[in-house]
Amino acid sequence: MSDQKLNVLMCGTGEYTTGWTGSGASKSDKKIGVVALTLFDLRRLGKVDQLGMVGTNGKKFPDIRQHLVDNIGKVYRDMDTTFDAFPEGDVINPEAYKDAIDKLSSGDAVVIFTPDSTHFPIALYAIERGIHVLVTKPAVQLLSHHSELVAAARKHNVVCFVEHHKRFDPVYSDAKARAATLGEFNFFSAWMSQPKSQLETFRAWAGKDSDISYYLSSHHIDIHCWIMQGRAVPTRVTASAATGIATSEPYNCVPQTEDTITLLVDWQSLSSSKHKGTAVYTASWTAPLKAGVHSAQHWYYMAEKGEINVDQAHRGYDIVNDETGKAWYNPFYMKYSPSESGHFDGQRGYGYVSIEKFVDAARSVNAGLTQPADYDGHGLPTIANTILTTAILNAGRISLDEKRPVTIKHENDQWILE
Ligand SMILES: NC(=O)c1ccc[n+]([C@@H]2O[C@H](COP(=O)([O-])OP(=O)(O)OC[C@H]3O[C@@H](n4cnc5c(N)ncnc54)[C@H](O)[C@@H]3O)[C@@H](O)[C@H]2O)c1
Repeated sequence: MSDQKLNVLMCGTGEYTTGWTGSGASKSDKKIGVVALTLFDLRRLGKVDQLGMVGTNGKKFPDIRQHLVDNIGKVYRDMDTTFDAFPEGDVINPEAYKDAIDKLSSGDAVVIFTPDSTHFPIALYAIERGIHVLVTKPAVQLLSHHSELVAAARKHNVVCFVEHHKRFDPVYSDAKARAATLGEFNFFSAWMSQPKSQLETFRAWAGKDSDISYYLSSHHIDIHCWIMQGRAVPTRVTASAATGIATSEPYNCVPQTEDTITLLVDWQSLSSSKHKGTAVYTASWTAPLKAGVHSAQHWYYMAEKGEINVDQAHRGYDIVNDETGKAWYNPFYMKYSPSESGHFDGQRGYGYVSIEKFVDAARSVNAGLTQPADYDGHGLPTIANTILTTAILNAGRISLDEKRPVTIKHENDQWILE
């Protein structure tokens, strides 16, 4: 690998990037965020060079910088938390990402952790300027937008990954390999939830710009599509939603906000016309408080010759605290406690690995060692490899809005919804 470092612009300054939310430091399991911390550490380790961060409101940056100095700079050894900010000063500008991306050069990278409805315009703007893109899940909300990004990334020959970090969870990636030995797919059922207190953090967009299926079910839908890649395809989606909690006191979300969304999906085997499967993906952001876990997350996979059960909320590891009671933590995601030498020590967490894989791929392409298309064959969550995840999520939204099943079809080399 060439030692040329990657310049990275972080789009979004919120909970996942910095741990700083509109109402102060996040109270979730990501108090100091994931993205900025990982990139500061990759800069310390020599893979990353210049870092920038773009939001919409320049007034937030003094608080964000202080939060990062106090909780990262003063906690880990040799950690430089500086970055260029856009927009600067007291300016509010929802299109500041254009100014920030215009300052980059071809071969630089952006990582996009902004509200779901903004992923597409920001990703396209960057790709068209020859910038490598890592976009968080859900990559986009419309299947047609996903197809456009696949085509644009090919045309401009850039790396475009979707940040589906659960693919790097050691249990999920092991389960994917084992599922391949169990014969034809039959049934998949997934449950994922977050406590309703998260609705306070996401109030600005919850129910308006996106729904809980896009926000949480995207994780397990992607894992299931990954398991099925080349073996079966989704053909029909029917959605159902529970309502009434998010729209009541004290959350008072907009009237169209659903609490819990279930997608029922038909799957067709590609190797046997008689083998069909069923999947049920349910997600909720009105789960009880004090359940001991931040995200409940489990799934069940049944096939011709066996089954797989995964419970990633309870990993045989629990902590009891006199003040707060019993809790199940997930040290495989982000490890925040410092190493023996006082440095950041979370390089093996799958939240970190996911971002590092993208940085490695972009550097390798810049060094001429690989082509962006190579990663489609590596089982990585490239934009091309994740199109069926968006097809299912988009079909689910249409099914809820139009109260009907939606068909997923492959015609003239394009995936379409009917
Ligand atoms: N919080 C998590 O645990 C988590 C985990 C994985 C992925 N994500 C994804 O990351 C994205 C952001 O989530 P979050 O939790 O950080 O949300 P958040 O609401 O805390 O932060 C969103 C950020 O985006 C910024 N933003 C809004 N419009 C913008 C624009 N036009 N240009 C630049 N910045 C803009 C906002 O200023 C804010 O800083 C979502 O798509 C979410 O699905 C979040």
